[in-house]
Amino acid sequence: MSNYHIKHLEEYWQVYRKSLRNPESFWEEIAEEHFLWRKRWDNVLSWDFSKPEVKWFEGAELNITENCIDRHLATRGDKTAILFEPNDPSEGAQHITYNELHERVSKFANVLKSQGIKKGDRVCIYLPMIPELAVSVLACARIGAIHSVVFAGFSATALSTRINDCDCKMVICSDGSFRGNKTIDLKGIVDEALKSCEGVSTVLVAERTKSDIEMKEGRDKWLQPLLDEADSVCKATVVKAEDPLFILYTSGSTGKPKGMVHTTAGYMVYSAYTFKNVFQYREADVYWCTADIGWITGHSYIVYGPLANGATTVMFEGVPSYPDYGRFWEIVEKHKVTQFYTAPTAIRALAKENLEFVNKYDLSSLKVLGTVGEPINEEAWHWYNDNIGKKNSPIVDTWWQTETGGIMISPIPYSTPTIPTYATLPLPGIQPALMDENGKELKGNQVEGRLCIKFPWPSMARTIYGNHERYRDTYFSAYENAYFTGDGALRDAVGYYRITGRVDDVIIVSGHNLGTAPIEDAINEHPAVAESAIVGYPHDIKGNALYGYITLKETGEGRNHDNLSKEINQLITDRIGPIAKLNKIQFASGLPKTRSGKIMRRILRKIACKETSNLGDTSTLLNPEVVNELIEQSLVVS
Ligand code: WT7
Repeated sequence: MSNYHIKHLEEYWQVYRKSLRNPESFWEEIAEEHFLWRKRWDNVLSWDFSKPEVKWFEGAELNITENCIDRHLATRGDKTAILFEPNDPSEGAQHITYNELHERVSKFANVLKSQGIKKGDRVCIYLPMIPELAVSVLACARIGAIHSVVFAGFSATALSTRINDCDCKMVICSDGSFRGNKTIDLKGIVDEALKSCEGVSTVLVAERTKSDIEMKEGRDKWLQPLLDEADSVCKATVVKAEDPLFILYTSGSTGKPKGMVHTTAGYMVYSAYTFKNVFQYREADVYWCTADIGWITGHSYIVYGPLANGATTVMFEGVPSYPDYGRFWEIVEKHKVTQFYTAPTAIRALAKENLEFVNKYDLSSLKVLGTVGEPINEEAWHWYNDNIGKKNSPIVDTWWQTETGGIMISPIPYSTPTIPTYATLPLPGIQPALMDENGKELKGNQVEGRLCIKFPWPSMARTIYGNHERYRDTYFSAYENAYFTGDGALRDAVGYYRITGRVDDVIIVSGHNLGTAPIEDAINEHPAVAESAIVGYPHDIKGNALYGYITLKETGEGRNHDNLSKEINQLITDRIGPIAKLNKIQFASGLPKTRSGKIMRRILRKIACKETSNLGDTSTLLNPEVVNELIEQSLVVS
């Protein structure tokens, strides 16, 4: 029996049970046999969820890039590590071999050093999906610097908040980015953001769009000339198992974004292990995850997990609709992609288009299909299964979070029988629990509750950067001795899990996690706005879309609502990014409130979802009369 590579259901159960019986020896064996260590650990695991404090492989020393690159050179030096597919297909793909990746990462790491970056420094990476993004991530890891990748769709304000929160010394960006037929002025956004970031002394600029940009004397430097001069050998900096590898921001239901801190050894072991099993990766495969490296999916399953397994990982710069809606399938055919991992929102968008866009292409190379980021509805699941997998490729519906670092609940393809909308079974080492409203664990099957994890796993985030108390309050205070995910879930008669959605004020729009509070803060900046509340409502393609209830100040009352709506969405775009724009806006005469002044979002959610027949008890409201007004007004909101 192999712990590392599960090949059938019986083996899954054996491995899973072993991981419960003795988690430490389970992970120790995997760590020992499949990774390169500079020094062995003294202790596999110590943990205390009340602090919370979790340490894996304490005492060990390593460098993750030696695991992702150097150790493959002897046997896979000429194998493609990163297969770059540009936005414009006519530009042609780039095959970056492990040898080349080694050289590019080493040179980049030497540039970082020459610019004064040292172990433990934070470096913000704000790049489109071009090879420099993966290379810069690995270059940071090479020298023990902590990368903080910010998705290049975020606005200047969102970028500056993230740069300042973790005191980044450097920003790595490009002149611009290509997305479909658009060119985006990334450097302009960086310039705007840096007006309020005093700690950044250097900006490295990769050339991509050859746009006309401003270079600030002394601060901004073109990357290529520095790389040209850099030495192609860079000894990896040895770090400790629990040294931070990266920070990645995720929205919370309140307050500013949370900088989740992931550490080195546990993250490496878990992302590699889950990559191997969930995608059943084999040596000659070509694996493609369509996510952006700006999200955790890209960190774990474009960069670290695949490279730690010596895989070929596709990096796609573009969008599914350019030059036309067949783009994904054209890439699958061209590169003979074997594993394809995407978001339900992309599947729903493509399913709306003519099937000709799919049927033109030979998709017979595919062996495993995956989804991530939000629940997949049954219709989308069947479309994916029938038209892309031709009922021949198992679909892995993978549930996890930025905080968990790796996939937690997922089928093992060709082992776990799949059912649409079910993430199915926990991966080895993962101990889920469902809790009732009173904090008691619901044992047995056929129960529904709040999803928690009872035991540490190697890739869990260790803290929120600069705010350990918030980490404890958010994840470890709702239930004793358990990590609370923020999701609801049910366990069916055979023990399969189905994720039912967020139970807090986070709304998942097109697979992006959005907290309501920061959006409301942006809206409330508008001089005509008195108050606002955002809820989610079901949307065909996005899964959920945003519905905003907005009350105006007296001074705003004569204003044209169409103009106001535009201004409000512009404010949101400026403060957060276009992904957080409201789909519907209702200018309301008031918001329903409890006697203590709390907005009753439950009622607002029902009105937005047109479920007004059963609003529950509204008599305890401070202003019950507003409910009928809201329902009436909602009828004209489009
Ligand atoms: C939230 C985490 C994990 C990488 C991308 C998102 C939702 C994620 C699923 C799934 C139902 C899912 C959860 C979770 N979610 N995967 N397979 N089925 N819901 O990471 O931005 O941190 O969001 O995404 O609500 O809590 P994230």
